[in-house]
Amino acid sequence: MKEEIKNSNWKLRKGRIIDAKQMTSAEKWFDIKLEDGGLDHEPGQFVQVELFGIGEAPISICSSPTKRGSFELTVRAAGRLTRAMHALGKGDWLGIRGPFGKPFPVKLMTGNDLLFVAGGLGIAPLRSLINYVMDNRREFGKVDILLGCKTPEDMLFGDEIKKWQKRLDVNFSCTVDRSAPEWKGNVGLITSLIPGVTMNPERTFSVVVGPPIMYKFVIAELLKKNIPERQIILSLERHMKCGMGKCGHCQIDHPKNYYCCKDGPTFTYEEVKAARKL
Ligand SMILES: Cc1cc2nc3c(=O)[nH]c(=O)nc-3n(C[C@H](O)[C@H](O)[C@H](O)COP(=O)(O)OP(=O)(O)OC[C@H]3O[C@@H](n4cnc5c(N)ncnc54)[C@H](O)[C@@H]3O)c2cc1C
Ligand code: FES
Repeated sequence: MKEEIKNSNWKLRKGRIIDAKQMTSAEKWFDIKLEDGGLDHEPGQFVQVELFGIGEAPISICSSPTKRGSFELTVRAAGRLTRAMHALGKGDWLGIRGPFGKPFPVKLMTGNDLLFVAGGLGIAPLRSLINYVMDNRREFGKVDILLGCKTPEDMLFGDEIKKWQKRLDVNFSCTVDRSAPEWKGNVGLITSLIPGVTMNPERTFSVVVGPPIMYKFVIAELLKKNIPERQIILSLERHMKCGMGKCGHCQIDHPKNYYCCKDGPTFTYEEVKAARKL
């Protein structure tokens, strides 16, 4: 193996699943410990998960770097690799490369107000940043978390969300697209929550992660609130193959031909607003 690969993030490392839990019918959560040390990631980064003989796929790290010793992933069964991952449990091994990708700009956000907007599975990558902020709460100003999911059963990290709701130093709001008899909260799209947030736009960073359809409408609401384009942070998903800027699979249709794997997955809206599709 070439020296530069042996000592870099490209090296395949052995990870053991130390805990796993089915969260919803589609999503499973894993706590993973690397055989040879820590992952040392930053919020917003992802790993490439490899299962021998099946392939590999990028999965966001959903735990904060403030959690030491192991890291967490939340995986939706979407295709070959993720379905095979759902068959794994405590004690099983998998291959991990990474961490990869440009993290959220935590240093720039420090000292400012934060508005998190998560749609569906988008709460997974955002959770790495939200829990980082919770663990370093004094370094940030006002914190608002907006969460949207299809139905109450689709909500991920329900127990943790209850803890966020109880905190006096965080404003938490949640909405579902379709209600259920026991649901007492908001019903409607996540965009409906944004007008109700009081903010000083000059000192607010908004971090938005969710399905592609959500971005256009959420960004329009944030711009109405006068949040500067450079302070709207997005995490984009594209189908990846190599994860290292070689194959072009994850290219974004933008005059600058960004690759999601090496230039992202996090971008400011200012950077990607010329993209044909977010
Ligand atoms: C930065 C990043 C972070 C991610 N984080 C997470 C995460 O935290 N949790 C999570 O569950 N998922 C995450 N994903 C998505 C995940 O990587 C994909 O779902 C991945 O395709 C799953 O691999 P698979 O082999 O199971 O599915 P695949 O067999 O690749 O298929 C998944 C679906 O995508 C379609 N598809 C596959 N390849 C292409 C292609 N080239 N073009 C168009 N459609 C295609 C398939 O038809 C199928 O419907 C992330 C993706 C990125 C880029
Ligand atoms: S995945 Fe190959 S260039 Fe990004």
